[in-house]
Amino acid sequence: MKITIVAGARPNFMKIAPLYSELEKRGLPQLLLHTGQHYDKNMSKIFFDDLGLPEPDIFLGVGSGSHATQTASIMVKFEEVCLEVQPSIVVVVGDVNSTLACTIVAKKMNIPTAHVEAGLRSGDMEMPEEVNRILTDAVADILLTPSIDGNENLIREGRMEEDIFFVGNIMIDSLKYCLERSSENDIFEKLNIRKGEYGVLTLHRPSNVDNTTSMTSILDALFEIGKEIEIVFPMHPRTRKSMERMGLSNRLSEIPNIRLVEPLGYLEFISIVANSRVVLTDSGGLQEETTFLKIPCITLRDNTERPITVTGGTNKIVGNNTERILDAFNESIKEDYSDKGDLPLWDGGTAVRIAKIIQSYLGG
Ligand code: UD1
Repeated sequence: MKITIVAGARPNFMKIAPLYSELEKRGLPQLLLHTGQHYDKNMSKIFFDDLGLPEPDIFLGVGSGSHATQTASIMVKFEEVCLEVQPSIVVVVGDVNSTLACTIVAKKMNIPTAHVEAGLRSGDMEMPEEVNRILTDAVADILLTPSIDGNENLIREGRMEEDIFFVGNIMIDSLKYCLERSSENDIFEKLNIRKGEYGVLTLHRPSNVDNTTSMTSILDALFEIGKEIEIVFPMHPRTRKSMERMGLSNRLSEIPNIRLVEPLGYLEFISIVANSRVVLTDSGGLQEETTFLKIPCITLRDNTERPITVTGGTNKIVGNNTERILDAFNESIKEDYSDKGDLPLWDGGTAVRIAKIIQSYLGG
């Protein structure tokens, strides 16, 4: 019996860490596989260290490429691995290209597949992650959802109730574990910021950062926000390259009070988010982390696959229009979110629930 856990890109690592550790505790044999979709130290290795994950047992080293190139190259290499190790089950997480590629391979080899974070839907088929989510959930055997809307989406798409398990949000397991340790770093001195007095910005979606009109509109809003508050911006490598290509790097560095930094590790990042005044982002996971932390979140997208963070959390979906971003900023910093964000099963116990389901599926 060998459980193969797949991770490939930055947002996967905090989703596999608690499960890996829980399966270890139960003495279940497992293989940790990293596809190499993300490979920079700051996008990968640092997360393994911060989250207490061991070196992966298998590293596919696929690197960057177009969607087809990346997905295909993961599939070819993962098939070879499956032929050799004969996993008893493959566990995939999230919605990145590695998630879909490994699911297709496993299913075509009749290996049972479990999807952690199943059922999320943005309804936006122009988003590569939405395609990955729908296709993964169409074939995976065990569908593990973070919120009840995930169950509803899967039922609507024709999946059977007995394959769907509402287990809660596994990212909150990592967040809780790391919050206890995140005070041990000196990120506030390094960035010269004071707790509660700055905003955090992250941007990496192609629809924002690869499009000059969208990016200019966001930069205009940031120019005004920077007059009010310091903005810490750990920049994704894709964003840095895009800004240079579009000739917007100067415009970005002219924003008042902006702190442009390299992508941060998990512990440092969680520290600055947990102590921020507001977060502006186009990330998926950050909408959930801010909700749990009761920090206002302004999402620079037109939709979200995590609507529960709007209805039950601190999230506002505003797109990339300058005026809408500024209005949301002005509202958010005044709002009191103390009664928000306590969502069902976002409690740090998700890995235990998933491990039990996998163990019982495998007859343990
Ligand atoms: C991927 C995921 C996205 C996730 C994001 C988090 C897909 C379709 N997208 O998007 O869902 O939110 O990760 O970061 O799987 N690059 C580096 N070093 C790295 C990784 C990437 O320089 O370690 C640069 C490369 O130029 C690369 C570009 O970033 O071409 C984009 O990387 P890629 O993995 O294709 O997609 P992300 O935008 O990171």
